[in-house]
Amino acid sequence: MAYNPFTLEGKKILITGAAGGIGRATAVECAKLGATLILTDINEDGLNSTLAILEGDGHVCLTANLTSQEALDDLVAQLPMLDGFVSNAGVTKPTPVKFINKDDLERIMSINTFAPIYLTQRLCKKKKFNEGASIVFTVSVGGVFTTAPGNAMYGSSKGALQVFMKNVALEMAPKVRCNSVNPGMVNTNLAGRSYSDEDKERDMQTYPLRRYGEPKDVALAIVYLLSDASSWVTGHALIIDGGKTLY
Ligand SMILES: NC(=O)c1ccc[n+]([C@@H]2O[C@H](COP(=O)([O-])OP(=O)(O)OC[C@H]3O[C@@H](n4cnc5c(N)ncnc54)[C@H](O)[C@@H]3O)[C@@H](O)[C@H]2O)c1
Repeated sequence: MAYNPFTLEGKKILITGAAGGIGRATAVECAKLGATLILTDINEDGLNSTLAILEGDGHVCLTANLTSQEALDDLVAQLPMLDGFVSNAGVTKPTPVKFINKDDLERIMSINTFAPIYLTQRLCKKKKFNEGASIVFTVSVGGVFTTAPGNAMYGSSKGALQVFMKNVALEMAPKVRCNSVNPGMVNTNLAGRSYSDEDKERDMQTYPLRRYGEPKDVALAIVYLLSDASSWVTGHALIIDGGKTLY
């Protein structure tokens, strides 16, 4: 067998937000590297589309609204022991501070921050992690390393998640590792909804590598953190941003 320190052969990995974008790309790459996947998302059609393009056998889809406590309980009850958990589902709604309202703020915090915290809590409590398992949160550069007008709600939700990641890394060591990926702008539905084509083109020129990321750029960083190649890495925020935060 060819040497591959990034292999995920024999690993069972849960991925949230797997119906599209970064979650789907992560599922595709993990399956290519031999993992068996449990995919979850609120979007059942999208999940099935992801499932249809995966290599290998034994992958399953579990549709769930991660903001529901009951749905989280149901989901965790159906899970096998895990070697990896990618907490990736998320939403945004760019809004200037003076227009923030309760519904939007609670929705963003529920999906981006509270759901990952509650799901991680349950996975720990129910002892769902095998020795050497790896947790990866999809955070962002936004809120953690950068600020931008309109990004207060999203940035706050991701900033809190970043702090949570570090605490999980400390508490779960040495049995389980926990890290984050922190992307700049990536070409997905989430990014597409927020900006016009002209704004995007102008903004891309502010990236030293002169482009936005593709979902696969982030997926391969997640693969590294899931694999045993990163077995001495925990509590780390891995920036993947085409050099944007160099400025
Ligand atoms: N695209 C970017 O520029 C970018 C940059 C930095 C970080 N991120 C983060 O990457 C992650 C993935 O986003 P993406 O860009 O692939 O966008 P996306 O919209 O393609 O994926 C997000 C997924 O989350 C799912 N989701 C939303 N609410 C849910 C809920 N209540 N329960 C279950 N699933 C739910 C959606 O159905 C969707 O499939 C998010 O956490 C996002 O904040 C994205």
